[in-house]
Amino acid sequence: MTRMIKIFDTTLRDGEQSPGCSMNLREKIEMAKQLEKMRVDIIEAGFAASSPGDFASVKMIADTIKESVVASLARTIEADIDQAWEAIKGAASPRIHTFIATSPIHMQYKLNMEPSAVKERAIAMVKYAKKYCSDIEFSAEDATRSEPEFLSDLFEAVIKAGATTINIPDTVGYTTPEEYYAFIEKIKKNAPSMDLIDISVHCHDDLGLGVANSLAGVRAGASQIECTINGIGERAGNSAMEEIVMALYTRRDILNCDTRIITQEIMRSSNLLTRITGVKVQPNKAIVGENAFAHESGIHQHGMMKNKETYEIMTPESVGLSTNTMVLGKHSGKHAFRSKLKDLGYDVTEAEMEAAFAKFKIVADKKKQVYDRDIEAIISKEAVQVPKAYTTERFVITSGNTITSTATIMLVKDEKRIEKVARGDGPIDAAFKAIEKIVGRDLTLEDYKLESVTEGQDALGDALVKIKGADGKVYAGRGLSTDVIEASIYAYVNAVNKMIYAETQGQGN
Ligand code: KIV
Ligand code: ZN
Repeated sequence: MTRMIKIFDTTLRDGEQSPGCSMNLREKIEMAKQLEKMRVDIIEAGFAASSPGDFASVKMIADTIKESVVASLARTIEADIDQAWEAIKGAASPRIHTFIATSPIHMQYKLNMEPSAVKERAIAMVKYAKKYCSDIEFSAEDATRSEPEFLSDLFEAVIKAGATTINIPDTVGYTTPEEYYAFIEKIKKNAPSMDLIDISVHCHDDLGLGVANSLAGVRAGASQIECTINGIGERAGNSAMEEIVMALYTRRDILNCDTRIITQEIMRSSNLLTRITGVKVQPNKAIVGENAFAHESGIHQHGMMKNKETYEIMTPESVGLSTNTMVLGKHSGKHAFRSKLKDLGYDVTEAEMEAAFAKFKIVADKKKQVYDRDIEAIISKEAVQVPKAYTTERFVITSGNTITSTATIMLVKDEKRIEKVARGDGPIDAAFKAIEKIVGRDLTLEDYKLESVTEGQDALGDALVKIKGADGKVYAGRGLSTDVIEASIYAYVNAVNKMIYAETQGQGN
């Protein structure tokens, strides 16, 4: 019989904790909506007690999402649990996820607590959380380096106290599939109550075994897998959701498991996260990498032409790679644009449609053909816009190999035009310095990348700018244009606007 496996997504909590992957409030909401659309069972929205910004985003996600359970992480501390509940109580299906470390090394050096005190605290806090919420997940941090006998005893006790899901994380990505399988079996043998609840696995990828370990956990009886889009997360990351879901689907013949995930939404989720964080996946990344469905060698191409199954174990369409070949151009109207968005799977509001169409018209004026990837770039950029404290009015750049580059830039703030001139080491440097002068802040350029969205001389340039403010926080901005200097200016201004937006939300990025 096929078992349904719950997918618990922690992109917005464990994933967001990793360097370069931070998101602002709007971006988190956008990501959460996409996770709901792809039918994730549980969305871990954040760690409400960790900062006012995290509290606000967990609350907003809890108030917005209707189809998925919304969880907040909390240490086994009353104040954390209070905050978690305060943030998620408006959710259609709330969950409190509380955790404490259980390995000898963590208990001694991090917690400075005896195992008996850890057990007592865990029981007390599960009971405390249960007063608020019926759905309680308990995690034993660093479980795979904990004593299995201690875990059986602890799990039996916290289940009696009210835990409905028990998570056995491989926090440091240390275990192997065979070992993890045997470890879970052993814990279950001495904790009969584990048959009554959901067992969850949460594997980090330090040895590149996260997905394999998660699947071993499922074979050992786990009914929930914790994972992130693109595998983002602490250090080497968490198990990648797209790999888990497609492995369960493609090898359902031997794994006998299924998920509720709409696999056709996988690419869109991956692309959205990449656009929000600016963190790209490697080209050969399983499922969502640029080359994952590309067949370069002549022998492979020949085989594919005769029968796709010669080298294809799953179809590109099954993960949402578009096969629609209709290309739009400057004569395409709103109707064609709307129908293209529908084909690409975007469900946008009228206001979003208008904004995207206006941007499309500008691009189509400069570019002969507007491809699906151009449209996806336009849409995902529009989707995560923040209020524009500054807008670009105009710019003039002089540059050459015998002169120093100079940029004159005019931005508008509160209906006031502000113009500054700066010289720099090349046109982009000059432009960024002029914007910095206008904004009047000490900003450090952390990263700058420019790529073309599609091939060809008139390709759309996609610029990524990461700036660090005086507070040390990093903000990523993106800009699109067929003119690479314009794309770069837009990206810098977008990063500045995100910084200002985060400040108004009382939120670090
Ligand atoms: O890796 C880990 O142990 C965690 C827990 C908080 C679940 O992220
Ligand atoms: Zn983790």
